[in-house]
Amino acid sequence: MIFRRNKNRYNRVQLPTMSSLHIVYSTSTGHTEHVIETLIAFLQEKAPSLTIEKQYAEQVKSEDLLRGDVLLLASGTWNTGGSEGQLNIRMHALLKERAKDIDLQKKPCLLISLGDSRYFYTARATEHLTQFILQHNGISAADPLIMVNDPYGQEEKVTKWGEKVLGKISVLSA
Ligand SMILES: Cc1cc2nc3c(=O)[nH]c(=O)nc-3n(C[C@H](O)[C@H](O)[C@H](O)COP(=O)(O)O)c2cc1C
Repeated sequence: MIFRRNKNRYNRVQLPTMSSLHIVYSTSTGHTEHVIETLIAFLQEKAPSLTIEKQYAEQVKSEDLLRGDVLLLASGTWNTGGSEGQLNIRMHALLKERAKDIDLQKKPCLLISLGDSRYFYTARATEHLTQFILQHNGISAADPLIMVNDPYGQEEKVTKWGEKVLGKISVLSA
């Protein structure tokens, strides 16, 4: 049980816990991969007992999404299928096709989306990922991390989000 200060009194708040984090991501230019690698390095330093597994979306079977105490989905925004504002083609194939019938069984989930401000539907992958979690009985464990434009040079934004996540989900030893 964790005690959180709330205004002038201490309340008991049951935080979600995790000993393992399963990261599923897709990347075409390496941008999403850079964000994931930055986050992993941060988490390994701050929460060394956390077991982290990462998988490319194209290698994931539907049931793999149930691995880990917490699921993190990460995708850039692309023109999959011909119109802009879509998921990366490999994340699209996973979430909208192979895993379209999955029940996430109230699994706590985290989201990272990328995009570019030159596009009208900037970082619209956020909406697709959020909808997937909500429509498949997942639970959003923190606000999404939305990375707009080149992620190189924005590493601090990633580590600050990682800090917020660690404040919302307590890490247990495996
Ligand atoms: C063909 C193409 C279409 C894109 N469409 C969008 C879009 O609709 N909205 C957006 O915010 N970014 C869009 N982007 C930008 C990418 O989301 C961005 O560069 C992202 O960092 C790519 O990450 P990734 O290579 O790891 O998938 C597009 C980029 C390309 C090359």
